[in-house]
Amino acid sequence: MPPIIEDATLGDIDYCARIACESEIGKRYGFERAALAEKMRSGLASSAIIVVAREDAGKPDVGGTAPRGVLGFAWIDPRGAFGSAPYLKLIAVDTNKRSGGVGSALLAEFERRTLAIGKVWTLMVSDFNLGAVAFYEKHGYCKAGAIPGFAVDGIAEILMVKKKT
Ligand SMILES: CC(C)(COP(=O)(O)OP(=O)(O)OC[C@H]1O[C@@H](n2cnc3c(N)ncnc32)[C@H](O)[C@@H]1OP(=O)(O)O)[C@@H](O)C(=O)NCCC(=O)NCCS
Repeated sequence: MPPIIEDATLGDIDYCARIACESEIGKRYGFERAALAEKMRSGLASSAIIVVAREDAGKPDVGGTAPRGVLGFAWIDPRGAFGSAPYLKLIAVDTNKRSGGVGSALLAEFERRTLAIGKVWTLMVSDFNLGAVAFYEKHGYCKAGAIPGFAVDGIAEILMVKKKT
């Protein structure tokens, strides 16, 4: 069954932060769950859009496990690229739930929600994150440049862009 994609609720945010912290990039950059969750909540309070993929929208929140079946999330800044084009700030899928189309569904939602803004979709991906680069290329994104040491010394962030047709 394809995942259900919908707006994240405040109750989802802490679990989304956990998914990101447990991912390869979270570990490499030393994301801290409470701090990330706080940034996500602040984002939601301003112009950010955070969407979640759910296994089952009808599932009750049983606490301790994923709230209402959260599988992953996408954090979207609708004009995050120089104030004029959509920027995918962060996307992550629970390690155990990957390769089932959840990431693709979240990426499609990023594009759907921001279709009317700018001429391109943008994102940045760390140079070591070859799996994510392959994932984005599969979905039509091209490397447009690299910014050495953008977030951390010794790591370049690759700017990837997909042109709207
Ligand atoms: C990138 C990510 C969101 C993809 O989510 P997903 O649910 O696995 O994506 P899908 O199932 O829709 O697509 C998977 C496909 O993408 C490509 N892909 C994803 N990860 C890959 C990897 N590590 N190596 C090679 N290809 C990869 C493959 O084509 C893969 O298909 P396959 O599983 O049949 O080989 C997920 O791997 C993730 O959360 N990674 C950790 C966080 C992260 O790095 N986010 C990107 C930050 S810029």
